[in-house]
Amino acid sequence: MIHLIRSLVRKPRRRITGAGASAAAVGPDEAASRAQGPRSASPGKVAAPGRTSGAVALSVHNLGERFGARSAFEDLSFEVGYGEVFGFLGPNGAGKTTTVRTLGTLLAPSAGSAMVTGLPLAPENGVEIRRRISVMPEAPGLYQRLSVAENLECFASLYEVPVLRERIEFALRAVNLADRAQETCAALSKGLRQRVALARALLPDPQMLFLDEPTSGLDPAAARDVHELIDGLRQHGVTIFLTTHRLEEAERLCDRVAILNTTLRTIGPPGELRDRLFAKTLTVRTLVPVPDPGRVFTGLPGVDGWHQDGASYVIAISDPVTATPAVTRALVGAGADVMSIAESRHSLEDVYLQLIDQDTEAGQG
Ligand SMILES: Nc1ncnc2c1ncn2[C@@H]1O[C@H](COP(=O)(O)OP(=O)(O)OP(=O)(O)O)[C@@H](O)[C@H]1O
Ligand SMILES: [Mg+2]
Repeated sequence: MIHLIRSLVRKPRRRITGAGASAAAVGPDEAASRAQGPRSASPGKVAAPGRTSGAVALSVHNLGERFGARSAFEDLSFEVGYGEVFGFLGPNGAGKTTTVRTLGTLLAPSAGSAMVTGLPLAPENGVEIRRRISVMPEAPGLYQRLSVAENLECFASLYEVPVLRERIEFALRAVNLADRAQETCAALSKGLRQRVALARALLPDPQMLFLDEPTSGLDPAAARDVHELIDGLRQHGVTIFLTTHRLEEAERLCDRVAILNTTLRTIGPPGELRDRLFAKTLTVRTLVPVPDPGRVFTGLPGVDGWHQDGASYVIAISDPVTATPAVTRALVGAGADVMSIAESRHSLEDVYLQLIDQDTEAGQG
């Protein structure tokens, strides 16, 4: 049966060649449709350039995907370097999964172009792109009546993974499932099935791994294991395209993030996005109100302005290294009893909510 499925999935796929980008089936069929042909055994296998090479793993130009009158995403342009962990964030319906499916060759783009692992996203490159990438879809899509090990054997065989047994053992260990290998997938919890899907994505030793919400439904310890796994993969030079709703996860793991809401709202390293969107401030708390705060704060080096916020003073600053000591000296000089001076920290969540709220307000206006 495996040979039959393999010979079918190797054939050029109508989905990517067809103009109407209908949804690919989700479930075992979708995973099977990514069967990739020979990998490491293939003399033609192209090694991924290293993290420091500066080479581009993914380059997207004005890409768009429509379902009839609805645009799932549009005018998407960005690049991802080899070895990067790239976060792809956005609210429900923003187009994240559809982007993954398009870049993973499951849907033909309605507009624009892309290069995936150095190959143009085009029907004739579908098989070779699928050899180089791996996708962990939103829905695990496993054969429920097969055991964990049988599922992995089945998919590994479809992917023509060499040293099959070792690779399956590696994947099971990587997601902490070695002791559940003989259980049927139907008997596993949602989070455990998620881990099996992640193990399946690791089977082919991909250059680029697309993970669509890999920690959705996982408990904190299991999510931490996945984070460590992603860190480990990054150290081995695997490029990771990660969609997630867990913003602290993106902040911790990703070199850069993109925030999508049908169109790209912003892109950059999390720290840079914070600085771009929010002014730097110091929050000062004193035991009793400062008698003449304007006289204390105005004109200090690195200080752009200030306002009172309840029992605190919020000082807008351009440079914390200059402003913080100057503010401290001025307060002490004015005889204020300083309780705390802290640089305000904005999280990636603040950035995300600010941008998405702006979109909601614009939509209402
Ligand atoms: N097969 C399809 N047919 C019609 N519309 C679709 C299809 N697949 C997705 N869409 C629509 O495209 C838009 C983007 O969906 P997508 O699944 O990519 O969002 P998402 O960002 O992954 O959301 P979530 O965070 O909920 O997973 C949505 O409006 C969705 O309803
Ligand atoms: Mg999705």
